[in-house]
Amino acid sequence: MELDDTQRASQAQFGKQSSCYGKGHILADVSDVAAAVEKTGLSGGTALDVATGAGHTALFLAEQGFRVTASDVARAMLDRTAEAAEESSLEIELNQHVAEVLPYSDESFDLVTCRVAGHHFSDPGAFVAESVRVLKPEGWFLLIDGCIPDGEPLAEKWTHEVEKLRDPSHGRFLRQGEWNNLCRGAGLEIKSSKLQPMKMPDLEWYFEAANTAEENRVKVRELVRNTPDEARCLFRVGEEAGKTIWWWQRLTLLAGKIPS
Ligand SMILES: C[S@@+](CC[C@H](N)C(=O)[O-])C[C@H]1O[C@@H](n2cnc3c(N)ncnc32)[C@H](O)[C@@H]1O
Repeated sequence: MELDDTQRASQAQFGKQSSCYGKGHILADVSDVAAAVEKTGLSGGTALDVATGAGHTALFLAEQGFRVTASDVARAMLDRTAEAAEESSLEIELNQHVAEVLPYSDESFDLVTCRVAGHHFSDPGAFVAESVRVLKPEGWFLLIDGCIPDGEPLAEKWTHEVEKLRDPSHGRFLRQGEWNNLCRGAGLEIKSSKLQPMKMPDLEWYFEAANTAEENRVKVRELVRNTPDEARCLFRVGEEAGKTIWWWQRLTLLAGKIPS
């Protein structure tokens, strides 16, 4: 399948950086996924993890007894997932494809998950619609991603500038209301949609994870020095032990497919 520019940028970026997303990465803490999956009452079945990265979510689901299919646009990320699965003696089916077109039959999965990736997608609406299509009736959809509360335009503009400079494959953090509307419009009933702060422990580490170009690091440090009050307050931008830290607003959206 031909990729669009946004998808190609993600494939290139994560193809280069896959080794940064393994065990020591903050995404290795899957307590957010565990808490959400517990609410579904599912204790097995079929799960599709979209944009699996180094596979933290997929591995957790496999450990819980799900039959997991994990997919990503970047082959190198799937390779990292395969290595981690082998190390843990877990079986996961791995497929390379974009999130916006899911190559599975209708009503194939009990659960579709997607964690910390939606902000890279060229068409989040197509991703949600495809997720709903491949979910079984009464299946569950779990989205976790960096997000912007509604009605925070200055904070939204600031974080967009920072993230775009840091990682050229960044698309856009959607607002909470946008994700909610996409889900409702696609035939999901939202069970919970919550924003919670997630600590970004060190701006310099964050640059390393994306291999940010030196000139862009300079620009981001400048943007951080001049953070508008609205953004400073929302993201709690500050210094801690000589490191620049802040708190992402992380959306956890759990929804059920309304049987047609
Ligand atoms: C931060 S990682 C995901 C982390 C992972 N879900 C976890 O729970 O640890 C983001 C992933 O999104 C993938 N990605 C970005 N855009 C994509 C797209 N349009 N389709 C599929 N995968 C995409 C990237 O290749 C990357 O592996």
